[in-house]
Amino acid sequence: MLELKNISFRYNANSPLLINNFSFLAVKGNIIAVCGDSGTGKTTLLNIICSVIPKIFPGVLSGTISHNNINISELSIPEVAPQISLLMQHPDNQLFFPTVEQELAFAPENLKIPAKDIIKRIDDVLVKLDIEDLRHKETASLSFGQKKLVTLASILTLSPDVYLLDEPFAGLSQKNIKLISDEIKTLADNGKIIFLAGHSNDIIQFANKTIEMENLNEKH
Ligand SMILES: Nc1ncnc2c1ncn2[C@@H]1O[C@H](COP(=O)(O)OP(=O)(O)O)[C@@H](O)[C@H]1O
Ligand SMILES: [Mg+2]
Repeated sequence: MLELKNISFRYNANSPLLINNFSFLAVKGNIIAVCGDSGTGKTTLLNIICSVIPKIFPGVLSGTISHNNINISELSIPEVAPQISLLMQHPDNQLFFPTVEQELAFAPENLKIPAKDIIKRIDDVLVKLDIEDLRHKETASLSFGQKKLVTLASILTLSPDVYLLDEPFAGLSQKNIKLISDEIKTLADNGKIIFLAGHSNDIIQFANKTIEMENLNEKH
């Protein structure tokens, strides 16, 4: 269970209010579409849910986020990330290692998972996303869509409770959209919580809850 309570946010004292007293409850199996025009705060909201804001990027945040009744502000980023994992909108911000295999091994190694289990997790996820051919490739040489699949794979190796997927379908082929959609449905069937940020038509079709982000400062 993930609960957002009375969340308000602006980037700094002089910047506009992006989120105003927002509360939301997500339970196991929920697929939540986070919709809204560009600049309405979809990425910001996902960063808040995994506490990248304010722990890495500063901002003026009030309210609480609790996961299984633990306030995540009391946890460090390395403690939160394996439970609530973010797929960033721009995969280049999330790829750090020379090869795909090294990239995929990093997070589970950090969790001190035994080496043979890590290999199994990597094998499974490469098959699942149909990217076995990328295993020994240099991450820098991949296309945008391949990078998205690799960053998604790196999250799947962690098997978090909550997936925050920021524009997961942007730049992907129809085949890969179908592959990721099916994986999202399977995750939800297995009791995971998935947030999908994007433009309504792509994502709303298989969501069972919606968060509509709005421009709070629009002049009417
Ligand atoms: N680090 C930052 N500092 C100040 N303003 C920011 C920062 N990051 C994003 N913004 C602004 O916050 C608003 C929401 O951005 P974002 O969350 O990326 O929206 P979306 O993902 O819906 O396109 C935009 O107006 C953006 O320019
Ligand atoms: Mg965004």
